[in-house]
Amino acid sequence: MSLPKNFLWGGATAANQFEGGYREGGKGLSTADVMTGGTHTTPRRITPKLEEGTYYPSHEAIDFYHNYKEDIRLFAEMGFNVFRMSINWTRIFPNGDELEPNEEGLKFYDDVFAELKKYNIEPLVTISHYEMPFGLVEKYNGWASREVIDCYVRYCDTIFNRYKDVVKYWLTFNEINCLTNKFGSFMAGGILLEDGGELVLNANDDNDSSKQIRFQALHHQFIASAKAVKLGHEINSDFKIGCMIAYMCTYPYTCNPEDVFLAQQRDNLNNFLCSDVQVRGAYPGFAKRYFKENNIEIKMEENDEEILKEGCVDFYTFSYYMSNCTTADKEVEKTAGNIMGGAKNPYLKASDWGWQIDPKGLRWTLNNIYNRYQIPMMVVENGLGAVDKVEDGSIKDDYRISYLRDHIIEMKEAVEDGVELIGYTPWGCIDLVSASTGEMKKRYGFIYVDKDNDGNGDLSRSKKDSFYWYKKVIESNGEILE
Ligand code: BG6
Repeated sequence: MSLPKNFLWGGATAANQFEGGYREGGKGLSTADVMTGGTHTTPRRITPKLEEGTYYPSHEAIDFYHNYKEDIRLFAEMGFNVFRMSINWTRIFPNGDELEPNEEGLKFYDDVFAELKKYNIEPLVTISHYEMPFGLVEKYNGWASREVIDCYVRYCDTIFNRYKDVVKYWLTFNEINCLTNKFGSFMAGGILLEDGGELVLNANDDNDSSKQIRFQALHHQFIASAKAVKLGHEINSDFKIGCMIAYMCTYPYTCNPEDVFLAQQRDNLNNFLCSDVQVRGAYPGFAKRYFKENNIEIKMEENDEEILKEGCVDFYTFSYYMSNCTTADKEVEKTAGNIMGGAKNPYLKASDWGWQIDPKGLRWTLNNIYNRYQIPMMVVENGLGAVDKVEDGSIKDDYRISYLRDHIIEMKEAVEDGVELIGYTPWGCIDLVSASTGEMKKRYGFIYVDKDNDGNGDLSRSKKDSFYWYKKVIESNGEILE
């Protein structure tokens, strides 16, 4: 069982969770910059005006802004040939609606890409990863407004032209399917909902009047993404532009047909609605029915359907952390999850944050998606958020190694099943700020960063046991997993 020779091995990050330098180089304020820290029991808050004395994790994050050379050198040492990162929209257009970009911001990414090139590391760039200019929130309520499409396309035009010879792989929006979730509406959509600024994970979204706003905003992102794909291909026909979905793998809790059907419906709505639009270029029938039954009316302009058809992505990428179950039985115990939870699976163990660990689910997921689309795929996020202890200067994260090993085994099985998998970039290859909780304590990295939840620490980097392990995995193209 072997992976293709040119398989892309690397790691994944997002600007707002690791760059820091939140006011440097002419950068504007982003949605992530107004989100406070939290824990898994205390939700993060949105503070439209920055509060003195409040801790905002994105402001310094792990300061990749000043440490990118050292960090990239460490990635190269592990053998990365791809690195997933995002461009911070507010470095390029600080307020979002300017007509001219900020040169200093563009220059920063010139430098980062040059550094990656030095080590032959291919950048994989997410254009918008859980942040947008806060200026666009104030002016338009984020993606709720159609005006934002033009701002986004101008931003894409700028970065596509600037980096057309150094970046080939692009993703238009991170976890686009999370926008319709209440938690994701601000993080992914920059939408301030009327019911306040507290981000509650796994919120119950049923019968909520804000659904109309959220699905309309999603439509705007679909149009923006399709326009970006078309534009990107015009600028450089070698560009590969993909979608990025938070794949929430869900099983029927029992073989009761009600559970089986509900699980399929959930798979359709949570996972396939967005990729059907982005891969196939049109809304699926089940989405139209869902809109009708939930009084959602998507306002479309005359040529929107054509735009969607003309902007289909070249490849499919997704995040995979866990699975859960779906049941019609309201009494079944619930479990937490990546943005959304579900019914607890009695056969699975969970992380300290309650995310159920399910390597086999990754094989199931890869097959499930590939059966539908038959286009190249990449796992662009996967990993275990865990508490690490530094003992005598070393970090023995065998739990992380075991999580990743088991997932890579299933990934290889899926390739053997016929899935066209081209790359793997585990999440948070260097410790960074957690998106859901704002914590540093929830670590995913191969590289440890000295910083705690309150911002204390000297930001020094050190190699965990998993660093040496992953290096061997990459060197052997996934043959050596011990
Ligand atoms: C994905 C996001 O949902 O999961 C990342 O794309 C995020 O931004 C990652 O960090 C892990 O989630 P968390 O909440 O543990 O940081």
